Amino acid sequence: MKILVAEPLAAAGIAALKAQPGWDVVVSNPKEYTQHLHDAVALLVRSAVKVNAAVLAQAPLLKVIGRAGVGVDNVDLAAAAAAGVVVMNTPGGNAVAVAEHTLGFMLAMARSIPQASASTKSGKWEKKTFQGSELRGKTLGIVGLGAIGREVAKRAAAFAMTLIAYDPFISAETAEAAGVKLVNLSTLYAESDYITLHVAITPDTLGMLNDSAFAQMKPGVRVVNCARGELIDGSALVRAIESGKVAGAALDVFETEPPAAGDALLALDAVFATPHIGGSTGEAQENVGVQIAEQVRDFLATGVARNAVSG
Ligand code: MLT
Repeated sequence: MKILVAEPLAAAGIAALKAQPGWDVVVSNPKEYTQHLHDAVALLVRSAVKVNAAVLAQAPLLKVIGRAGVGVDNVDLAAAAAAGVVVMNTPGGNAVAVAEHTLGFMLAMARSIPQASASTKSGKWEKKTFQGSELRGKTLGIVGLGAIGREVAKRAAAFAMTLIAYDPFISAETAEAAGVKLVNLSTLYAESDYITLHVAITPDTLGMLNDSAFAQMKPGVRVVNCARGELIDGSALVRAIESGKVAGAALDVFETEPPAAGDALLALDAVFATPHIGGSTGEAQENVGVQIAEQVRDFLATGVARNAVSG
């Protein structure tokens, strides 16, 4: 039985697959993996490989796709379902890494850390310019209180922030247990000093931070996006920053990755950008790699599908 690993995966995950008697584990890469598809029963990917109908058509024996990570937007779920292929992800596997990146962004914005560092390294000593503000006492609005949103809440609570969240899929009791008050989206926009997004792209969330959303926010709000770039209308964010409504935006994700040269957002001093590294810690990659390998192994061995998102 051939198991095709199409992107770098934690060594312990690969070892878990290789330990299965008779399993042929092929470790390939996004440029070359298609040549192994014809007899692959399982395909393991991260985010670089885009699995669409054309890829699936080359893999007639495929039973399962394992995504080492949360977002499955690089897999055409409808095409996978039509081909009878189960798709699994690893919810929670990189939640701490993404939450730490989110808090890092918030602190960086509150204290202008990137600018202060660049200024100091250039030989200046601008103590007055870089007076910041504290997270303490500020309101954090968390859009999406899933595994990542709840890890963010835990850490923000330690900074003595007031926590509110919008999530139509969880109960007020679950939110309360996480120390968070559930509110509607308008209230979250109106009351938050910081807003952080932790939702997937759906018809309801696509472009949710648009002109109308920014108009409802507090002047001076700061926005963090470590989820998906398509959640924010980039042009609306540029307008909101230029008008002074939004004081800062910290973006780990973009509508197009990498963003186009000349992207107006990247030219703004109030925008901090990182290259989709929220989940990129050694610990998180180890977690998701082992988690997905074990899920795929168990599915093929027993038929039990854990964390199936489709199929
Ligand atoms: C995820 O969906 O798990 C994160 O965005 C990280 C990634 O895509 O690698």
